[in-house]
Amino acid sequence: MEKETDIKEAKNNNTSKEEDVFLASSEENTENSSEENNEGKKNNLNFKNLISHPPNTKIEVLDNIKGDKFDFNFKIIVIGNSGVGKSCLTLKATKDIFQENFVSTMGFQFYSFHVKINEKIFKLQIWDTCGQEIYRSLITNFYRTAALAIVVYSVTDKKSFEETEIWLKQVKMNADPNCKIFLIANKVDLPDKVVTREDGLNSKKEHGFECYMETSAKTGVNVKELFVNCALALYKDLPKYDKENELLGDNEGDNKFKLNDGIKEGIKVEENEDCAC
Ligand code: GTP
Repeated sequence: MEKETDIKEAKNNNTSKEEDVFLASSEENTENSSEENNEGKKNNLNFKNLISHPPNTKIEVLDNIKGDKFDFNFKIIVIGNSGVGKSCLTLKATKDIFQENFVSTMGFQFYSFHVKINEKIFKLQIWDTCGQEIYRSLITNFYRTAALAIVVYSVTDKKSFEETEIWLKQVKMNADPNCKIFLIANKVDLPDKVVTREDGLNSKKEHGFECYMETSAKTGVNVKELFVNCALALYKDLPKYDKENELLGDNEGDNKFKLNDGIKEGIKVEENEDCAC
């Protein structure tokens, strides 16, 4: 575990805004800030590691939602090399399961994560993709309608970090230009790290990732926070949608976010979208 002084130095050497860098060490400080609320306590969220939001924002992870209720539906893709922990992160967030055995994903799997922000329910359709090289060109089909891409590497696998650049290129080539991109350093519970925090922070700065987070699917550090941050990042843009498309205030029906082509209008995900793998 790096010392607090190292953390500060890493931050000082970097122009990343503090609010979009979420280090695993902040787990030591689980006290919620003044904007904490009862829902946050109930969900055990570490508010220190959430993207900045106005005070008194109500945030609640809906673990046991019944039916398919939502106000906004966004597609999130989880990408990165094979074995970095994409499936484990997704499973931990959505089902609170950690899978010790490595079972490589074939094609893709998708899961739902619901979070309520100020009475609006966000349904995140999380597409956990296969990281194996043979599938790379095939999964690009799924980038087009993604609102946000989570690029994951393992801190114990240098190649997986180096190849985040390839994944980033894939997103830039295939996704909507407004697709937000997070950089995730997973497996921070392991001692044998070969990718440093500074490497991650420098990459964030160099490539302009929206957010850098350190996670452990095994211990659960920053896992729910990761997906709540996805919703918060998308939530930030809602006033823009409202203005441009008069989307908010239409509270009738399931599909309350009016949909056109492109990410700005929000994305309707077809549940039975076929995998080309
Ligand atoms: P593909 O499906 O092949 O793309 O792999 P993946 O990125 O989905 O990896 P997966 O989630 O299947 O995890 C691979 C291995 O890493 C499994 O044995 C997991 O138990 C392990 N693992 C995943 N996340 C963590 C973590 O945060 N800490 C530790 N210690 N092990 C992890």
